Amino acid sequence: MSNVQSGATGTRRPLGIMAALPQELGDLIDAMRAEASVRTVTHGRRDYHLGTVQGAPCVVTLARIGKVAAAATVSALIHAFDVEAVVFTGVAGGVGREVRIGDIVVADTLTQHDLDASPLFPCFEVPLLGIARFAADQALADELATATERFVAEEGHALAARFGTQLPQVHRGLIISGDQFVASATAVAALREALPDALAVEMEGAAIAQVCHEYGVPCAIVRTISDTADAHAPASFTSFLAEIAGAYSNGILKRFLQARV
Ligand code: ADE
Repeated sequence: MSNVQSGATGTRRPLGIMAALPQELGDLIDAMRAEASVRTVTHGRRDYHLGTVQGAPCVVTLARIGKVAAAATVSALIHAFDVEAVVFTGVAGGVGREVRIGDIVVADTLTQHDLDASPLFPCFEVPLLGIARFAADQALADELATATERFVAEEGHALAARFGTQLPQVHRGLIISGDQFVASATAVAALREALPDALAVEMEGAAIAQVCHEYGVPCAIVRTISDTADAHAPASFTSFLAEIAGAYSNGILKRFLQARV
């Protein structure tokens, strides 16, 4: 396959940065434009923004919603843009009992909660791959968690006061993904029963982790909790996305990218 990126940002391979929706990316593309020129390549109906953050080459894109969209986008980042690693930022529904709106979850592992080819294969296992839980890259997830902890230490109180949330807690553990927006207490109870250690539910992460695993590309995923996946989830998600998600992504990504330079 042709590589539409080759040579654009020198010899260093870029970092791929993804979100599902523009509100989840914060001001990152504007920040890249302020730093240097940004080249936008349209590929597979998505825009890939090639530029630098603090001098480091990055390709930034929006996957849109769902596992197929995420898998297609991360595959393009790997094959057309030759990224060395992938970081995904966005919001999620809280599923863990200790996980509250405004908290942040950095994934250690990810699983597709809606994947079930039983009795042919164990529930949640990707058929013929033999894996149910995909690991985030440990070092990259540690870097992301460190940046997230710093963000909370430096801006957490101000954020909580501004948005009327509690001081954010940072969690590490299992994020679950499926092609459903989860919005009922019954559905949350079923997810807790099936996957008791799940911290958060969203619609892309495990697909990205699977594709990255298959191609040997490190990935890490951070999610801010916009709702608790119950009947209030649609309203909570919508207002969190419009008002808060970008501030979290900006604060986390800025520190993460600064530390990588
Ligand atoms: N992303 C944010 N909230 C979510 C929810 N409740 N279900 C699925 N994905 C989400």
